[in-house]
Amino acid sequence: MHILVTGGAGFIGSHVVRHFLKSYPGYRVTNLDSLTYAGNLENLRDIESMPNYRFVKGDITDAGFLDSLFAAESFDGVIHLAAESHVDRSITEPTAFVKTNVLGTVNLLNAAKTGWKGNFEGKRFYHISTDEVYGTLGREGMFTEETPYDPHSPYSASKASSDHFVRAYFDTYGLPVVISNCSNNYGACQFPEKLIPLFINNIRLGKPLPVYGKGENVRDWLWVVDHARAIDVIYHRAKAGETYNIGGHNEWTNIDLIRLLCTIMDRKLGREPGESAKLITYVTDRAGHDLRYAIDSSKLQRELGWVPSITFEQGLEETVGWYLSNREWLENVTSGSYMRYYEEMYGGR
Ligand code: NAD
Ligand code: DAU
Repeated sequence: MHILVTGGAGFIGSHVVRHFLKSYPGYRVTNLDSLTYAGNLENLRDIESMPNYRFVKGDITDAGFLDSLFAAESFDGVIHLAAESHVDRSITEPTAFVKTNVLGTVNLLNAAKTGWKGNFEGKRFYHISTDEVYGTLGREGMFTEETPYDPHSPYSASKASSDHFVRAYFDTYGLPVVISNCSNNYGACQFPEKLIPLFINNIRLGKPLPVYGKGENVRDWLWVVDHARAIDVIYHRAKAGETYNIGGHNEWTNIDLIRLLCTIMDRKLGREPGESAKLITYVTDRAGHDLRYAIDSSKLQRELGWVPSITFEQGLEETVGWYLSNREWLENVTSGSYMRYYEEMYGGR
């Protein structure tokens, strides 16, 4: 089995690469990543010398490059995570999201369709998507696989568009696709522009914690390792054309989550209780800010038997511990020096 993982140097992708290499020593994993600001080969240091792992630097917006890669390699499957992933960036720079998330996905679909020469026996194209395609919920209800798409940010609009293209390639060409839509992930190696790592870093440095609006928006948090475990079961067992929602039934208002984070950080840093919460600063709300996400993952639990492996309290404790014991990682990504890592490791290749 030879799997092409795109975006494997990013947050979720690095956990997926590690999970597959460790769970399936007989598989080969090729990690294709263009190493944008969010791609960091340091995330894969512990597995980079495994003989069944290979890194390829390349851009999914380059159709010719993808075609040659598929012509040169015989991939059995694709797990597609490469994307622009940050909502705030999509508000200031929407075109980059169209290029990577929409055009990049269509390029990859074309490369797989052509590379596999219409013979899709034993093949799989797995597209990783988000719950944000469903739009926003009021105080009640949950997103199911039948919830109509209603994206509000340029990011979620680009992901919705890519989901539609993936389904269209199943309907039109019979490409054996599967899609999953997951809720907010947290864990080690997340770029500190996203809420949890950004706030851990700011608390550590005594910097203000910028809470958008009133902090009343609700997100449904899942440990990234449990997302990788779900991707494993869906990759191996879902029927072609299927969609699965992934989530941990774990809703938090932002402000409650931030207060919990402050409490954990006070304890771990030996600060007086309440010290870190003094950094909370309410700022202008995000434009088009979705009020609430909540995922109904009962289809995945019922059909494929997946359940999260740890509680949020355990996962958050573990995650804070990881960032505090990997301060060098945090300092490297915030200073940009990690960009030099690629040159040192792969210079000239
Ligand atoms: P990330 O931003 O941490 O990583 C994205 C990776 O894609 C980076 O390594 C980057 O270098 C690479 N990349 C970007 N543009 C590329 C291009 N043109 N060609 C090749 N590689 C490129 O993102 P993440 O949070 O790990 O998210 C991964 C996927 O999961 C995305 O598709 C995202 O929409 C989806 N998702 C994320 C979450 C979440 O909470 N983070 C939840 C649900 C779904
Ligand atoms: O739901 C899945 C999505 O979760 C993924 O598809 C996205 O790739 C991922 O980035 C994430 O999107 P969010 O916008 O929900 O995540 P973010 O960490 O940016 O924000 C979480 C919540 O915290 C959101 O309500 C906005 C708020 N927030 C965020 C930041 C960065 C703040 O209040 N202040 C901040 O500084």
